[in-house]
Amino acid sequence: VREVSIRVAAGAVEEVLDRLLPIAPDGVRERDDGEVVTLILRGPRVPATAVLKRAAGTALLALSEGVASDDWRERRRADLRPVRIAGGLTLLSGWAAESAAAADTGLTIVLADESAFGTGTHPTTAACLELLLELDIRGSFADLGCGTGVLAILAATLGFEPVLAVDRQPSSVDAARSNARRNGVAIAVRQGEIDVGPERSCDVIAANVPPAVHRALVAGLAAPAQPDGAGNPRAAIVSGFGPVDADELLGSYRAAGLERATVIERRGWVAALLIPGR
Ligand SMILES: C[S@@+](CC[C@H](N)C(=O)[O-])C[C@H]1O[C@@H](n2cnc3c(N)ncnc32)[C@H](O)[C@@H]1O
Repeated sequence: VREVSIRVAAGAVEEVLDRLLPIAPDGVRERDDGEVVTLILRGPRVPATAVLKRAAGTALLALSEGVASDDWRERRRADLRPVRIAGGLTLLSGWAAESAAAADTGLTIVLADESAFGTGTHPTTAACLELLLELDIRGSFADLGCGTGVLAILAATLGFEPVLAVDRQPSSVDAARSNARRNGVAIAVRQGEIDVGPERSCDVIAANVPPAVHRALVAGLAAPAQPDGAGNPRAAIVSGFGPVDADELLGSYRAAGLERATVIERRGWVAALLIPGR
């Protein structure tokens, strides 16, 4: 199949995507290379090169054309290069033959099953991993909407125990279980909704989910009327929303007793570390 790669400066990605997505019926993949992002379009319906150049406009750094394998497994393998997260973590694809060789001395997680969200290439996953790496609290941990289970796996690797993970999608539950096995960590993965269940009373919770799911989650957190914040987590890492929803969502977490300690805004996405207010 035809494949076009468009390299643009990271700061211009959202603006270019606004113009590309309406003309790319098969979607656009993003590969984050730090200061530069590569947008990849594949398939028979990719627009003509001149149209793509116009859509990229002045943000265009380079455009290259090629042919990708007809086998989706091959294409996926080619997409999954090591992802480096600030703080010394590397995420490797278990499929890539060079995985072991690419591992350096830092912390490494191998995602043998990437059939769910959370391979580290999305800014929300990367920001949540960074916030978790910086956390000096330990105890129980819940990954609410776990996808590949990458946040739970990092938590278990850092010494959190027990580590719980929940996702409504059976494919995510399977992926998280097999990824945990691949990394030799113990995680209890449950299929279900995040706003019910025992996970919310863990010491640290992470939820990289859409705004509506945060609303349901925050509604179930302990009210600030409990002076010691009993029942609430000692820290929450939240993401999955943009600046438009951030004030409302972080405001409702605050009303539930969790105040913003660190906020990361990256490529149109927000991630925040919340801790109990004093
Ligand atoms: C954006 S992905 C995040 C995956 C991973 N935690 C990460 O940070 O990359 C959100 C995940 O939450 C799950 N999810 C969304 N709403 C949910 C809900 N109400 N209950 C359980 N899982 C939910 C989705 O199936 C998806 O796997």
